[in-house]
Amino acid sequence: MKLHGTMRIEKNQLYIGGVSVKTLAEEFGTPLYIFDEENLINRATSFQHYFRSNQFSTTIYYAAKALSNLYVFGLIRELGLSVDVVSEGELYTAVKAGIAPEKICLHGNNKLPRELMMALNYRVGRIIIDHPTEFSLLSDLCRERQQKIDVLLRINPGIQATTHEYIQTTTDDSKFGMNTADPDIFALIQKIDADPYLDLKGVHCHIGSQILDKNFFVEEAEAILSFVRQVKTKLNINMSEVNLGGGFGVYYTAEDNPFDLPEFLTEYISVIEKLIEKYDLNINTISIEPGRSLINDSGSILYTVGSVKYPLQGRPYVFIDGGMTDNIRPVLYAAEYEAGLANRMNDQPDDIYRVAGKCCESGDVLIQEVALPRPKTGDLLIVPATGAYTYAMSSNYNRIPKPAVVFVNKGKTALAVKREDYEDLIRNDMPYTS
Ligand code: LLP
Repeated sequence: MKLHGTMRIEKNQLYIGGVSVKTLAEEFGTPLYIFDEENLINRATSFQHYFRSNQFSTTIYYAAKALSNLYVFGLIRELGLSVDVVSEGELYTAVKAGIAPEKICLHGNNKLPRELMMALNYRVGRIIIDHPTEFSLLSDLCRERQQKIDVLLRINPGIQATTHEYIQTTTDDSKFGMNTADPDIFALIQKIDADPYLDLKGVHCHIGSQILDKNFFVEEAEAILSFVRQVKTKLNINMSEVNLGGGFGVYYTAEDNPFDLPEFLTEYISVIEKLIEKYDLNINTISIEPGRSLINDSGSILYTVGSVKYPLQGRPYVFIDGGMTDNIRPVLYAAEYEAGLANRMNDQPDDIYRVAGKCCESGDVLIQEVALPRPKTGDLLIVPATGAYTYAMSSNYNRIPKPAVVFVNKGKTALAVKREDYEDLIRNDMPYTS
């Protein structure tokens, strides 16, 4: 198991942020989402430091869909990052956490009228228009309210980045954005540009998620900036802003070979600078929207081992007290993870195990193959690199309460989200009355 961020082993015990994982389990119970705050801060500052140019300003939007709660938004606010939200819930949470609305951009392929209204009420910095009907809706709302708003148009250059098909976003059959090969795209740009209430700043693109080959991002920059040139030549419309989205891949297992972030970001900036020169563009802002690459490494999920079961066939199961309710990714995307026994880090593996959750589903297997020392009841099983899209996608399937989220930093712990209790589970239920 790879040790991420501040993870250390001392006397056979795993420590995160200077706190022993065993102590965290005792204090907060399991399952438990543990976040290494220092690691998260380092990643964020790395983005801020290396994604910088002398020729244009840069904005780093944290893609809130990876994990959003008041605590994480508070941290993002202190770090000075901007935030990309995709729903009224994310928007509400971000504003409640004190993120300045002008630092927020609103995404979505089907923004509801009330979501657009909420964004207009808060006066968010940018709304990313997805398609012509949405443009009309936003335009009408702004006219009724006599309110102006800065917008970008989401475009799809048809790049098929190598990743799981569910998280590809610029294939030709994608539900997101306007395809750059769509003949209607130029008419839409003209309409947005001519709208007295919408200020068309530029374009947005996101080619997908967990992309480990940096060439796709270079291909994206080339496609988007050449499109901006086309718009300038064809329509005489100057776009000053380009948002290139997120998608930078991370390490889950030894099979993943993510690019070095500082090195890549420096290279990326220079590629963009050259393209701006090549296409003779007046770009003043380039943005990116990292989610997973910002937060995944800092998160781990901690479980308690129940028992080990030997089926008639196949690998032995290690049963844990969580599963697909706290991490749906293995079931949804066949995502793979490493794991270790946090209370026995130096013990030698004796077999290859399957880690299975407690949900009533045969498919509730978190890890298909992991070498572990023979687990015993009460051992603590940790699954690192689970910060992104785990709590964010968690559920109450089987009426399992959602675990707590705790942040650790330099020996201190902070509870970010309380563990749900049974009352939380029935809070919105209405009793049957005859
Ligand atoms: N910007 C936009 C417009 C996006 O749609 C996304 C992710 C991001 C940025 C951030 O991408 P990242 O840097 O995190 O790759 N639930 C899936 C991931 C879905 C990503 C959706 N959009 C998973 O667990 O793998």
